Amino acid sequence: MQKIVINQTGGTEQLNLVDFELGTPGAGEVQIKHTAIGLNFIDVYFRTGLYPAEKPFTPGMEAAGIVEQVGEGVTNVKSGDRVVYCGALGAYATHRNIAADKLVPIPDGVSDDISAASLLKGLTAHYLLFLTYKLKKGDAMFVQAAAGGVGSILCQWGKHLGGYVIGAVGSDEKVPLAKENGCDVVINLSNEDFVEKVREATDGKGVPVVYDSLGKDTFEKSLDCLQPHGLMVSYGNATGPVSIPDLGILSRKGSLYVVRPKLFDYTNTHEELVNNANALFDVIQKNVVKVNIGQKFDLKDIAKAHNALENRQTTGSTIILP
Ligand SMILES: NC(=O)c1ccc[n+]([C@@H]2O[C@H](COP(=O)([O-])OP(=O)(O)OC[C@H]3O[C@@H](n4cnc5c(N)ncnc54)[C@H](OP(=O)(O)O)[C@@H]3O)[C@@H](O)[C@H]2O)c1
Repeated sequence: MQKIVINQTGGTEQLNLVDFELGTPGAGEVQIKHTAIGLNFIDVYFRTGLYPAEKPFTPGMEAAGIVEQVGEGVTNVKSGDRVVYCGALGAYATHRNIAADKLVPIPDGVSDDISAASLLKGLTAHYLLFLTYKLKKGDAMFVQAAAGGVGSILCQWGKHLGGYVIGAVGSDEKVPLAKENGCDVVINLSNEDFVEKVREATDGKGVPVVYDSLGKDTFEKSLDCLQPHGLMVSYGNATGPVSIPDLGILSRKGSLYVVRPKLFDYTNTHEELVNNANALFDVIQKNVVKVNIGQKFDLKDIAKAHNALENRQTTGSTIILP
């Protein structure tokens, strides 16, 4: 058995691959042999220390695998079941013990790779479109990182719901991908002004909702893309965390709303988790959402995977093979 351990937060050199032995699962837990691990930007925040964790720790929030042992009192899964989870640190490992109520059964017809590539990102797209803002047919939405992991699912699902999807990407190569994701308009941040382009695409009106995962560098300009009373959904920090020193900025820019949500507040109960995951698997099985696994890395190459994600070299989802 192998896992990645972080003793000190910092750069990718802090990701150490070690051998280990795992004890039997405790009451309410199961032991899983991972088959695919999902790479997420939140893994970078934990590695750098932006999000706190008690050290030493094994990073990674999402994986699919097979149940190998079941602890006392577990009734929702049994040995041999294919399961996936997100939201429990410790996924960068070949095996782990985990609370059984974190697990979602993988339906037939969905592979382990696809489920590890989509659960965390797809549940995020789900709450962003149905809960944080209830997207209605005809609503325009502006999405940063429209060819990335969350962005790819968010754009496809938003388009399916009848949204007018405006997506931004960081380079020419990502433009066709954002189009495939259903974007009606694609903005290339490397040579276009996104505020100007969003205004142009909406006849000057602006959009009712912006989904901004880039954070610090784009926050203020993303506010300028909103129509009066519009909602700024600031859901990530890829360029650094956002602080608002002056709430007056929201009144000056049109009595705007801002929310800084996180997935794990929308999956508080096992029932919520399973229901939302089923909604995701349904759109995947119907091919409404196509999960694009842009790249795969071996667990021993986890530093390369982090470098690629941080340097904007990935597209779609990334999985790690244990
Ligand atoms: N709040 C939540 O519940 C929640 C849940 C899941 C994810 N998230 C957030 O959603 C975002 C997307 O996550 P993901 O895992 O799917 O990652 P991702 O979108 O696949 O990768 C991040 C993308 O951000 C863009 N980017 C722009 N400037 C960047 C910079 N300075 N450094 C790195 N990337 C930059 C890049 O796309 P371009 O080159 O096209 O600009 C890059 O590919 C992250 O911010 C993550 O924290 C939030």
